[in-house]
Amino acid sequence: MINSNSFSHRRMRLRSLMKDCGGLVVLLSNGEAPMNYLSNVYRYRQDSSFKYFFSQMRDGVVGVIDLDSDADMVFGDDFTIDDIIWMGNQPTVSDLANDCEVNKVNPLSDLDNFVKSTVNSGRKVHYLPAYRSDTLIKIAKLTGQGIEEVKQNVSEYLIRAVVELRLIKSDEEIVELDKICNTGVLMHQTVMKSCKIGQTEQYLAGLAEGVSLSFGNGISFPVILSQNGQTLHNPFHNGILTDGKLLLVDMGAESESGYCSDYTRTLPVGGKFSQKQKEIYEIVLKANLESIKLAKPGIKWQDVHFNACKIVAEGLISVGLMNGNAEEAVELGATSLFMPHGLGHALGMDVHDMESLGENFVGYDRQVGRSTVFGHASLRFGKETKVGNVLTVEPGIYFIPQLIDIWVNEGKFKDFINYHKLEQYRDFGGIRIEDDIVITDNGCRVLGKPLEKTVDEVQNILI
Ligand code: GLY
Ligand code: MN
Repeated sequence: MINSNSFSHRRMRLRSLMKDCGGLVVLLSNGEAPMNYLSNVYRYRQDSSFKYFFSQMRDGVVGVIDLDSDADMVFGDDFTIDDIIWMGNQPTVSDLANDCEVNKVNPLSDLDNFVKSTVNSGRKVHYLPAYRSDTLIKIAKLTGQGIEEVKQNVSEYLIRAVVELRLIKSDEEIVELDKICNTGVLMHQTVMKSCKIGQTEQYLAGLAEGVSLSFGNGISFPVILSQNGQTLHNPFHNGILTDGKLLLVDMGAESESGYCSDYTRTLPVGGKFSQKQKEIYEIVLKANLESIKLAKPGIKWQDVHFNACKIVAEGLISVGLMNGNAEEAVELGATSLFMPHGLGHALGMDVHDMESLGENFVGYDRQVGRSTVFGHASLRFGKETKVGNVLTVEPGIYFIPQLIDIWVNEGKFKDFINYHKLEQYRDFGGIRIEDDIVITDNGCRVLGKPLEKTVDEVQNILI
């Protein structure tokens, strides 16, 4: 649980980071999202930045932080008797505001005039990028701008300040993350124990999602569970488990308090890795373990990513799938055929933490820029790590037939890649191994209870 006074502390810190800006910070809660008609809605998901500063509250509420005074305000309307007949008694907006130490509560109808008078007096209104169209429209109406203007005029000051705060997790946030990682571990162990030949992927995905709902607030992103693990974020679970295949399972849970977990394991259907699968698995495992060993404050995460790619290259050279110098292969991007994604991303109240604010604000800075090389360019977080950063460590090796064909036709990196031998791996699938870590004073700690990871551990739990 996040203490009430943490929310006022966060707002105070935001105010101090933005002390030279002046104006109003306006944070909109997410609206309800209808599935097929207005009153039949998806599971409600509060906006993470709203929740970080103003707690869960509910839909339709707007939080305002006045940077020129000490005033924090909430604008929102209480449920009416018509709502209460269907939903039961609900806390008032004032009750909810109390939970995050805000005592100025106004009706929503006052917001328009309040914001307009701020704009008219020449003070700035700071808002974050909107990723939902209803939020975009609300900001447009509130600020008197067109949709494109709203997008152009997002506050970079606010983005930078929010990123600075949210990227460093406090002790109470780490407690929440540890708990929800345990739920992520349980989701995976539940799948591992039911991973039997003939079972459907859909059944396993459903079991896992059930665990996430029983012990948390549901999944942190749609479950990835597929024997076609070469597709990085395969959204389909329409296969039947087949002896000898690899099942890639990437999933995590979200807590009531809003924190996420994100683990990947790759399981041999039938219970035993083949020699060929084991060889590739051990390379990915080494990249995962060595990256965790390297993680510490002040290390460029981009360097840890490159090192993981080097381990991948060395491993693939040792099994005869690559040739040449591993470091050079990484630098030029030859390893990206096998690992076309980054080593990891920030994790927190979003599974890709704060991606809606702009990945480069979160993962890069003046010292570390994003690579333009295919594969390395997908690294979401590259900058120097700090104590309290929470990151995923998720190297992988994939055999993507469509990508292989393009590279073969282009003769791309033919000195580095043994395309002849690669033919034998076209139906291999993919392997990814992902853990969640927090950067500590001396290195890092893997969050959550241990989740089976070595060849023996995985094979033993599958039996
Ligand atoms: N596990 C989903 C992702 O990292 O993108
Ligand atoms: Mn991930």
